[in-house]
Order: sequence, then structure tokens, then C-alpha cells
Amino acid sequence: MLKKIVIPLLQWYNINKRVLPWRDKNNAYYTWVSEIMLQQTRVEAVKPYFQRFITALPDVQALAQCPQEQLLKLWEGLGYYNRVRNMQEAARQVVSDYQGIIPEDYQTLLSLKGIGSYTAGAIASIAYHKSVPAVDGNVLRVITRITENNGDISRQSVRRVIEEELSEIMPEDKPGDFNQALMELGAVVCIPNGMAKCEECPVASLCQAYCHGTVDRFPVKAAK
Ligand code: ADE
Repeated sequence: MLKKIVIPLLQWYNINKRVLPWRDKNNAYYTWVSEIMLQQTRVEAVKPYFQRFITALPDVQALAQCPQEQLLKLWEGLGYYNRVRNMQEAARQVVSDYQGIIPEDYQTLLSLKGIGSYTAGAIASIAYHKSVPAVDGNVLRVITRITENNGDISRQSVRRVIEEELSEIMPEDKPGDFNQALMELGAVVCIPNGMAKCEECPVASLCQAYCHGTVDRFPVKAAK
């Protein structure tokens, strides 16, 4: 019963969550910028880039209007420059189509350039408290271990099943905390390559892989 993980995870997150410059700010722009940066770079490395970026470009309007040269300069060191180009294109869409307000609706978020299911779920749940999952690699690792899901996580169908399972257990009052608790657990406790710190895990007793000694067999990812 996957639902049993909700309360212990939320309690663990409340006590153990890292203080991050974009966290608990109720600011969809901060959530967006941080999630795009975090797709390619670790939390500690992102922090100074994030601070510099939001100081120079504090909101969607500023991002939409920023000259290309300055934008690329702000992203220098992060790589994957298409991500920031897409983000600016999406910011322009937000200004022209949504009065400069980042949409709350998951499907509308998905329609913006560079926003896929993970980022749409993160923004909708963390900034707008909508009950939608946000499944990244960390979350896939946590859930495939808890449920001993043998599916190949590079398959969309496996990812969709996990999104569906999570949708069914999302706590309506704290979807953003729940998603961040899963990400955080995957980032600091339920980590890859034989390093998992199961003794620190608030849901070890509910984890099928832990109970069967199979943690390091998950997630399954087919060789390319
Ligand atoms: N990794 C990516 N997004 C994250 C978030 N919101 N919290 C913790 N780790 C993350």
C-alpha cells in the first residue's frame, strides 16, 4: 500500500529539508528557474547561479525582455544553453498570452516551450499547490525501490504508471511538500550506486526492495 508512505515522508521532510534559496517562497518564477537549472546541475552548484540569475532578472517580464547576450552570460557555466533560450521563449509566451502570470494549470504549463511533465508538475504543485506529481530521476529511483517495480525507467509507459500511482496518493493539502519530499529523499538518502542510506530512510519498513535486500537492483534501466 503505497499510500502509507505519505505521512512519514511529510514528517521527515519537515524536519530534514534543506534550506534552499528557491524553497518555500511561493514564487512560480523561482520554482521554474530553479527546476530548469537543477535538470543539469547539482543543488550546491546551482545556488550561486540561481541567486545571480534572479537578481539580474527578478521576474518573467525581465526574462522576456533580456538581451540574448546578457542571458547567455548569466547561464555561462551551466551549459545546455537551449534550456535558457526555451525559457525566454516561454517567458515571452507568458507575457503575451497570460498577462505575465505563470499559468497554474498543468496542461497550460505543458504547452509552454521547454516545460515537460516534470517541470509542469513541479511548478503546479510547489508554487500553486495543485495535486499533480513531478517525477524526475530521483523520484523514479525512490518509487521503483519502494514498489520493486522492474520496469525499464527509460520507457515512457513505466514513467506514466508511476505518475498514475503517485496521483492516487497525493495529499491534497500538501502536494508541493510531498513532491519535494520524494525528490529530497532521492537526492540525499535513496541515492544510486550502492550508496543508499537506508538506515536514515523514514519509509524503509514500507520499502519492498529494502525488505528483500534488493535496493541496488533498482531502478532498472535498459542499456542503450
Ligand atoms: N531536485 C530538483 N528539484 C528539486 C527540489 N525542488 N527539491 C530538491 N531536490 C530537487
